[in-house]
Amino acid sequence: MPEDQNDSKTGPNHVAIIMDGNGRWAQQRGRPRLFGHHAGARRVREIVAACPDQGVKYLTIFAFSTENWKRTQSEVSGLMTLFRKYIENEAKALLKNGVRVRFIGDRIRLDDKLVSLMDELELLTADSDLVHLTVAINYGGRDEVTRAAQRLAHEVEQGRLSYKDVDAETLSGFLDTHVLPDPDLVIRTSGEARISNFLLWQSAYAEYEFIDTLWPDFTAKEFANVLANYGNRERRFGGVNA
Ligand code: IPE
Ligand code: IPE
Ligand code: MG
Repeated sequence: MPEDQNDSKTGPNHVAIIMDGNGRWAQQRGRPRLFGHHAGARRVREIVAACPDQGVKYLTIFAFSTENWKRTQSEVSGLMTLFRKYIENEAKALLKNGVRVRFIGDRIRLDDKLVSLMDELELLTADSDLVHLTVAINYGGRDEVTRAAQRLAHEVEQGRLSYKDVDAETLSGFLDTHVLPDPDLVIRTSGEARISNFLLWQSAYAEYEFIDTLWPDFTAKEFANVLANYGNRERRFGGVNA
């Protein structure tokens, strides 16, 4: 098995999570959707903290999609404020806990203050290596591949790259995730069994787990159970195992 392919027996090296169900969680309590987003943010802290013990080196979380702008202006601006506050409040602890933070997605539509906090956190944690946390904000798989194709076409136009050299590896190198391994396991909470434009290219051979629990109820214990279940899977990557 090539080195970059993770054997399920060793546990997933890279886990990606579609953190869904915050709105329904709040609704069940008769509270505004933003109340659910705040509860969801507290769960992020718990799940990140659980990664080292679980042998998860890379954790990638879907925080805001390119389609989430369709929501009401008050929900969108509430989420953007939450992202800013989260970075401000968590930066020290993330650094102390050895977490390297990266952001993926198109920053062009995000406000300058948020983008500068994102840049600062990436820089602050650049030497950390215990857990690699990637947060997807204004991220869409199709948008990411489109932006990559655009940059690639620009390189060809400038004569720095020949179209003949374009292969899967070259394209991967232009994606936002170019420094990350592919996810081994993608978890989606809230009972929806769809990927909603998350890591389309990178998840070609990922295992999927769709969990009924709403994200604000997803505990470190349940996370550990999902990871244990991953160990029962047989990953073949198109081949045939002995
Ligand atoms: C996921 O929870 C968080 C974001 C998309 C920002 P939702 O807000 O989608 O919650 P539901 O799916 O409406 O319950
Ligand atoms: C996916 O959830 C995006 C995030 C978790 C950030 P959505 O709630 O936006 O997805 P759909 O609309 O149910 O497909
Ligand atoms: Mg949702």
